[in-house]
Amino acid sequence: MKAILHTPGPTSVMKIGETPTPTIKDNEVLVKIKATAINRADTLQRQGKYPPPPGASEILGLEMSGVIESIKSKSSKWKVGDRVCALLAGGGYATHVNVHEELLLSIPDNMSFAEATAIPEVFLTAYQALIYLADLKKGETILIHAGASGVGTAAIQIAKSIGANVIVTASGGKHDVCKNLGANLCIDYKTENFEETVLEYTNKKGVNVILDFLAAQYFQKNINCLDFDGRMVMLATMGGIKVEQLNMGKIVWKRLKIMGSTLRARPIDYKIKLTRDFKNQFWTQFENKTMKPIIDSEYDWKDVIKAHERMEANLNAGKIVLKVS
Ligand SMILES: NC(=O)c1ccc[n+]([C@@H]2O[C@H](COP(=O)([O-])OP(=O)(O)OC[C@H]3O[C@@H](n4cnc5c(N)ncnc54)[C@H](OP(=O)(O)O)[C@@H]3O)[C@@H](O)[C@H]2O)c1
Repeated sequence: MKAILHTPGPTSVMKIGETPTPTIKDNEVLVKIKATAINRADTLQRQGKYPPPPGASEILGLEMSGVIESIKSKSSKWKVGDRVCALLAGGGYATHVNVHEELLLSIPDNMSFAEATAIPEVFLTAYQALIYLADLKKGETILIHAGASGVGTAAIQIAKSIGANVIVTASGGKHDVCKNLGANLCIDYKTENFEETVLEYTNKKGVNVILDFLAAQYFQKNINCLDFDGRMVMLATMGGIKVEQLNMGKIVWKRLKIMGSTLRARPIDYKIKLTRDFKNQFWTQFENKTMKPIIDSEYDWKDVIKAHERMEANLNAGKIVLKVS
């Protein structure tokens, strides 16, 4: 098969080449990939800073959409030719990938391959963070950092769908994307102190939940922004990992829960349950278009270098899709 191969380094290390087509194991299907999407993790893996978990493909790509080409099990509910998308632990930047059949989501007739591939990684990440971990409830207020990121745009939609109030931080030029998804308040963290704005907006109470990607850079301010019994889920460390000075009193006094999580290295059974729960709760909303992946841009996979450069320059609002041919 063809795949985008790389050795650790800058964007120029990525080149389309030949590599063996995966063989399928029990419970797996082989999918002919039509589209994949870029995630921040791909750019880190390409740079050699985020190795794939044991057993995962070395090829970049955490999600794909395509058509089933062959099936191992004789009693599978899937058939050759079915249009599917799925979360992957790696291997999406290729013409073919093997996937556990319980991880597959059926693409609705009215959804394109580009739209479908933009769903699994960011929506399952946001679902896990907001529903499994933070237990976000109707009427609560959530602060979503990097609101215009792939994960952020998914989190806004999940939060609004369950009836939460949503505050986001994002560059000023990306606020319209967040507002159009229903964000109640958008803060330009480059020109405003988000802590002051959040406390003013919530009458000094603070928010119930925070979805964080900045770690050290925002840690103290995030603690200050949480209401009693607040929960914070940390998914990345884009703002550094070491806090020089920290007042921990508020964590105890306000009974806060601080959680970290990753998705890629989770066991397959966990990912199957997560996919099933997400599908049961939200898939009809994708079918009737009340929920949708936000696509920033689409590139032919020959232009993968340009696509990675766009993400690394923080220019995207929503997902960058690669069309595979
Ligand atoms: N733990 C997990 O399970 C998991 C799963 C998926 C993704 N993630 C992480 O979640 C984050 C979002 O992923 P994504 O693929 O949705 O990203 P993305 O679409 O590339 O968006 C990232 C955005 O974050 C904003 N940002 C704010 N401060 C930043 C900083 N200091 N450095 C870089 N960007 C900054 C930028 O938007 P502005 O212009 O608004 O600043 C940037 O466009 C990434 O860190 C990713 O690694 C974690």
